Amino acid sequence: MGRQNRMMQSGIWWWMALVWVGIQIYGCGGCWEQERFALLQLKTSINYPNGTSLPSWEDTETDCCDWKRVECNITTQRVIKLDLSYYVLENWYFNASLFLPFKELRELDLSSNWAAGWVTNEGLDRLVGLEKLQLLNLDYNIYNNSILPYLGVLSSLKTLRIAYNKLNGSIHFQDLCAMSNLEELDLSYNWINHLMTTKGTKCLNNLRVLSLKGENFSPTVLQSLEAFPSLKNLSLQIQGLVTTKDLGALNNLEHLNLDYSSINGSFLQNVGVINSLRVLSLHKCGLSGNLPSQGWCNLKNLELLDLSENDFEGILPSCLGNLTSLRILDLSFNHFKGNVSLSSRVT
Ligand SMILES: *[C@@H]1O[C@H](CO)[C@@H](O)[C@H](O)[C@H]1NC(C)=O
Ligand SMILES: *[C@@H]1O[C@H](CO)[C@@H](O)[C@H](O)[C@H]1NC(C)=O
Ligand SMILES: *[C@@H]1O[C@H](CO)[C@@H](O)[C@H](O)[C@H]1NC(C)=O
Ligand SMILES: *[C@@H]1O[C@H](CO)[C@@H](O)[C@H](O)[C@H]1NC(C)=O
Ligand SMILES: *[C@@H]1O[C@H](CO)[C@@H](O)[C@H](O)[C@H]1NC(C)=O
Ligand SMILES: *[C@@H]1O[C@H](CO)[C@@H](O)[C@H](O)[C@H]1NC(C)=O
Ligand SMILES: *[C@@H]1O[C@H](CO)[C@@H](O)[C@H](O)[C@H]1NC(C)=O
Ligand SMILES: *[C@@H]1O[C@H](CO)[C@@H](O)[C@H](O)[C@H]1NC(C)=O
Ligand SMILES: *[C@@H]1O[C@H](CO)[C@@H](O)[C@H](O)[C@H]1NC(C)=O
Repeated sequence: MGRQNRMMQSGIWWWMALVWVGIQIYGCGGCWEQERFALLQLKTSINYPNGTSLPSWEDTETDCCDWKRVECNITTQRVIKLDLSYYVLENWYFNASLFLPFKELRELDLSSNWAAGWVTNEGLDRLVGLEKLQLLNLDYNIYNNSILPYLGVLSSLKTLRIAYNKLNGSIHFQDLCAMSNLEELDLSYNWINHLMTTKGTKCLNNLRVLSLKGENFSPTVLQSLEAFPSLKNLSLQIQGLVTTKDLGALNNLEHLNLDYSSINGSFLQNVGVINSLRVLSLHKCGLSGNLPSQGWCNLKNLELLDLSENDFEGILPSCLGNLTSLRILDLSFNHFKGNVSLSSRVT
C-alpha cells in the first residue's frame, strides 16, 4: 500500500513538473508575453503621435493571439502572421526592430501603407533576423529601385510582392540573387521596362512564378528570363514581334499569360517551341486574320487556350484537333465562322 502511495505521489510530482515546464515553454495558454509586449510597441509606433489604429490590441489580460490581424500557431502560441495592410501611415518610420521579437513570423503584410514622407527602405534588410519569414507583401507602397538591395538579403523569403510601387527602368536581378529560396515574385504595375539578368549564375534558381503585368516590355525581355531555370508561370505584357529565339528561352514554362499585349499574328506560328505549355492566355492582344494552321498546334500539353477579344476571323484550322490535351478553349468575341466540330476534325 505504502509503496503504491509513494508511486502515485511521485507520479503527481512528475505530472506537475511537466505542466510547469509546459507553461514556461508555451506561456499560459495564450500568446507569449514578449510578443504581446512587442505588439503593443508596434501599435504605439503606428499610432504616433495620437492615432487610433488597432483598437483590439489592448493592454489587458486578453490573449494577443485573438487580436485582429494577428495569427498564432495553435500549438506553440507564437505569432506567425501579421497583417498591417491598409494603414496609411503618415511619417511612419519603419523600424525593423519592432518586428524582430516575432521569431516564428512567417508572413508579414505591409501592403497599402503608402504615404508621402514614409521613410521607406532603412531597416527592411534587418528583417533578415526573422529566419522563418516566407512571405513579405509590400504591394501598394512607394518603393523605388533603391529598395531592392535591401530586400535581396532576405534569404528565407519564398514569396515577395512589390506590385503597384515606383520601381522603374531597369531591374538588376543581381541585387536579389541571395534570395535563394524565392519561388514567387510579383513586380506588376510598376514602371519597369528592362530586366538585367545573367544566365548561369544560379541567381533565383528556384523562381517559379514571375508577374510583370501592366508594364511594357519589348519581346527580347523573354530572352533575359532564360536565367531562371525553374520558371513555370509568367505573366507580362509585351509589344512587338516575338521571335522563336525569344520564345525558345522559356522552354520549361507551363503558364504563359500575355493578356493585353500587342503582338503580331506570327506569335501563334512560333509559340509551338514552348512545348511544355499547359496554359496560354492571349486575351485582347490585338490579333487578327485567320488562325495559322501550324505552330501553336504543336502544343500537345496545352489544356487551356484563351484567344478571347481579338479580331480573328475565318474558320478554325483542322490542326486544332492536334491539341489532344485541350480542355478549355475560349474563342469569344472574335469573328470566327463555321463549326468547331467540323473544322477541327482530325483528318
Ligand atoms: C496630438 O497630441 C498632441 C499632444 O498631446 C496635441 O498637441 C495635438 O493637437 C494632437 N493632434 C491631434 C491631431 O489630435
Ligand atoms: C506550429 O508549430 C509546430 C511546432 O513547431 C509545427 O510543427 C507546425 O507546423 C506549426 N504550424 C503552423 C501552421 O505553422
Ligand atoms: C526601433 O525600435 C526599437 C525597439 O523598440 C527601439 O529601441 C529603437 O529606439 C527604435 N528606433 C527608432 C529609430 O525609432
Ligand atoms: C528612392 O527612395 C529613396 C528612399 O525612400 C529616396 O531617398 C530616394 O530619393 C528615391 N529616389 C528617387 C529617384 O525617387
Ligand atoms: C526612374 O525614376 C526617377 C525618379 O523617380 C527618374 O529620375 C529616372 O529617370 C527614372 N528612370 C527611368 C529609366 O525611367
Ligand atoms: C500559375 O498560373 C496559373 C494560370 O495562369 C494559375 O492558375 C496558377 O495558380 C499559377 N500558379 C501559381 C503558383 O501562381
Ligand atoms: C507580323 O509582322 C511582320 C513583320 O512586321 C509582317 O510581315 C506580318 O505581315 C505581320 N503578321 C500579321 C499577321 O500581322
Ligand atoms: C498533327 O499531328 C499529326 C500526327 O501527330 C502530324 O502528322 C501533323 O503534322 C500535325 N499537324 C500539325 C499542323 O501540327
Ligand atoms: C455544324 O455541325 C452540325 C453537326 O455536325 C451540322 O448539323 C451543321 O450543319 C454544321 N454547320 C455548319 C455551318 O457547318
